[in-house]
Amino acid sequence: MATPHSGKPTPDQHRRLLDVFQGQSLAPPPIWLMRQAGRYLPEYREVREQAGGFLNLCYTPELAAKVTLQPIERFDLDAAILFSDILVLPNALGQKVWFAEGEGPRLEPIAEAGAIATLDANNTTAIFDKVCATVRAVRAALAPDKALIGFCGAPWTVGTYMVAGRGSPDQAAARLWAYEDPIGFARLIDIVTEASIDYLSAQIEAGVDLVQIFDSWSGSLPDDEFGRWVVSPTRRIVDEIKRRHPEIPIIGFPRLAGMNIVRYYRETAVDGIGCDTSTPLETMAGPIAATGAVVQGNLDPLLLVNGGQAMRNRLTALCTEMAGKPFILNLGHGIVPQTPPEHVAELVEHVRTIAVPGN
Ligand code: CP3
Repeated sequence: MATPHSGKPTPDQHRRLLDVFQGQSLAPPPIWLMRQAGRYLPEYREVREQAGGFLNLCYTPELAAKVTLQPIERFDLDAAILFSDILVLPNALGQKVWFAEGEGPRLEPIAEAGAIATLDANNTTAIFDKVCATVRAVRAALAPDKALIGFCGAPWTVGTYMVAGRGSPDQAAARLWAYEDPIGFARLIDIVTEASIDYLSAQIEAGVDLVQIFDSWSGSLPDDEFGRWVVSPTRRIVDEIKRRHPEIPIIGFPRLAGMNIVRYYRETAVDGIGCDTSTPLETMAGPIAATGAVVQGNLDPLLLVNGGQAMRNRLTALCTEMAGKPFILNLGHGIVPQTPPEHVAELVEHVRTIAVPGN
């Protein structure tokens, strides 16, 4: 365990990750990795076992704080991300959520507008309080120069799980409901949007330095629907978080949105854009960086599984292409369980030793 700190950085212990949101480009860039705490780490598997399951782990602040800190202790990353899940929010709204071993998340589906009445937006505090206790415990133990990232799922992505009751390859259940009964579906999205605002605000008040909005399934919608179900609710969250906490940077991760990523940035007013694995380097360094966004991404998680020269070459290309721009080194999606932990160490070491031309 790291030694406790007051949490207040001295001038020379400022948080590098936050500097990029002041428009600075850093060489080497700050590094954190989506799913940096997880099953690829033996010490994570041990604590998860001790907790008796994934959701129990999320709801036991002492253990959730412990696994949040594990990758920082092992790899000296620039930021910790709160250990929780995007499906904690529907659970806080009263929807039944469980994680079947080896099968991913399951929820009692909300398949039609009538079932929205089973959600209760007034009783989220018990679960939010546990998450905030984790944030405070992490901040108390985290070195002052490390940033702490809070997060939520975007209403569209969270909605797809709430409606289908599980992950689905095409998000068909939510997409069909949105076509058949847009007013009913909008009620569901509104409930998730407002709860997400309160959830992020609570995390910020407990001590996170910035937040990321995960929209893993934003790529499944055509233009009009993208505007209605991805852009509008995200814009509402950004506006309200900026009103309550103007100093807190917000990263959006509109996964698989393709060319819509530029529109997403322009219309949601997030401060940073998380690029998925398929976003071309040229697009990251060109059109996206030109919008003024902090750019984050996008190493293929499978290249991290592979490691070695192929990974190092791609990291060099990424850092070279993004040199001189506000950039955060990350993956294009989460770390997968078969990742050798040594490859994460290799990634960090390589990014911190390569010379970045132009800096
Ligand atoms: O990044 C981090 O280290 C922070 C914690 C975090 C988790 N999930 C932990 C987790 C975060 C930010 C998430 C986000 C999340 N959760 C997303 C958005 C990002 C993405 O991956 O697209 C989504 C869609 C979910 C929903 C979810 N949770 C799924 C589909 C699964 C099953 C897939 C899997 O990897 O097992 C989860 C479970 C989950 N969330 C695990 C972890 C570490 C694995 C659970 C375990 O220990 O068994």
